[in-house]
Amino acid sequence: MGKPKVFVTRIIPSEGLDQIHAYCDATVWEDELPPPREVILQEARDADGLVSLLTDTIDGELMDACPRLRVVSNYAVGFDNLDIPAGTSRGILMGNTPGVLTETTADFAFALLMASARRIVEGADYVRAGNWKTWGPMLLLGVDVHHATLGLLGLGRIGVEMAKRARGFDMKVIYYDVFRREDMEQQFGLTYAPMEDVLKQADFVSIHTPLTPETHHLMNRQRFALMKPNAVLINTSRGPVVDNDALLEALQSGQIAGAGLDVTEPEPLPADSPLAHLPNCLVVPHIASASRVTRGKMADIAARNLIAGLQGEALPCGLNNDALGQGRSTLPRDW
Ligand code: DGY
Repeated sequence: MGKPKVFVTRIIPSEGLDQIHAYCDATVWEDELPPPREVILQEARDADGLVSLLTDTIDGELMDACPRLRVVSNYAVGFDNLDIPAGTSRGILMGNTPGVLTETTADFAFALLMASARRIVEGADYVRAGNWKTWGPMLLLGVDVHHATLGLLGLGRIGVEMAKRARGFDMKVIYYDVFRREDMEQQFGLTYAPMEDVLKQADFVSIHTPLTPETHHLMNRQRFALMKPNAVLINTSRGPVVDNDALLEALQSGQIAGAGLDVTEPEPLPADSPLAHLPNCLVVPHIASASRVTRGKMADIAARNLIAGLQGEALPCGLNNDALGQGRSTLPRDW
């Protein structure tokens, strides 16, 4: 009896990789850049399991090219890169890494909010450029965070944590979500409002929705036009939730005051993109969950999802555990 064969599309922290190596015959893609699609197809063609990243598209075509594949463990909470129905129809179990990155991501979203409001990166650039001559009454004036209105688009786990942080700054928090959360409204003093009203009233709009066909380009020209001229947009969800062209216009025309973006469309944002050079747009490279501890916990969950699937068990963080006992999950295990 051998070990199950798996392909891991990037080096992940040892909290997960050690478990994977102990249980599996694992091939790990060690480059900084993601494996090209042909490489994934080649490496996974006789694999029983796959650990994917948000940069890998895992669709029906790939699943059909990899006939032994019975589990896909995504090293991310977001799973817009996975075709879940395609997995379910083939009996392939799929999992993600929810929960462990919630607070780390909210910390970062709030840091982006603070940095954008108070022009921290512009200030640091100013010092590095040798421009700091004296204390200036009009130098790099920003907007206040305390007592401002935070508008949340999406009140899932990360949205709730963002609201909790905002309370510490005496902010008023309003939100829109397709699911109204009256329990959270009471617990954290939040106010529900239709999306248009959130956009009209908020000084900071922070996006916490998953990327779905419904949320693609949710922030478009019409919606930017509703925002206040002093408002700042924060996005730590997925880049395509915002229409980049509309955002650029809104920033350049003064329709809104600024943006703090952890995610962009495309990723990476090309170095010559105007968004990367606007002083009122702070762009960072999709690092909101990037604390050592959190990335280790994500790796642990990814490994446990993978191994559970290989053992023919429900994944601890499964996205389609209803696929268990169907299709490929019923293949005989020869390890
Ligand atoms: C996720 O997990 O979906 C984040 O975007 C990266 O941690």
